[in-house]
Amino acid sequence: MIKSLMGVFIGMLCLNAAFAVDEIMPMEHHRMTDTRISLGLSEKMKQHQLADMREHLEAIDSIVGLMAANRFQEAARIAHEKLGLTPQMQRMCGMLGNEKATELGLAFHKSGDELGDALETGDQGKSLSALHNTMQYCVSCHAMFRQ
Ligand code: HEC
Repeated sequence: MIKSLMGVFIGMLCLNAAFAVDEIMPMEHHRMTDTRISLGLSEKMKQHQLADMREHLEAIDSIVGLMAANRFQEAARIAHEKLGLTPQMQRMCGMLGNEKATELGLAFHKSGDELGDALETGDQGKSLSALHNTMQYCVSCHAMFRQ
């Protein structure tokens, strides 16, 4: 009881501190939280792009699950179909409105096909390092760009 009350109290202190920081330097705080380049996408493109992104995340989740179940061939198919450089993804990357973002997007999808190839070998170590390589594109593009 005492412990949980203490927890609530400490939690409130932290919340207060967070609000205080926002009040004192709202601009500073804002600048620190988002320095990414905007792609300036249209409203329609935004929805389309986010839907693609959610599919990418789902594909990664499926691939990890299938690897854990030792179903490498199915994981390979998902990698090629959902993360690989299909004509549709090639078109989508070309519409990002920023040369560097397009370049990153295309390299990302190429790495998706490489991931598919690695999974086809059934070698877990190779597949994990290919997955890591692919996910590094997710991380670096997200660090650099926003919609
Ligand atoms: C070429 C750039 C690029 C790559 C590569 C990329 N993303 Fe994104 N992603 C974005 C951008 C831009 C946004 C929008 C972020 C914002 O505006 O804050 C986004 C948003 C998302 C979102 C949010 C979706 C929503 O509905 O809000 C998810 C989830 C996501 N990405 C997953 C991934 C995953 C997983 C990968 C890798 C397998 C990946 N992305 C690779 C550019 C990229």
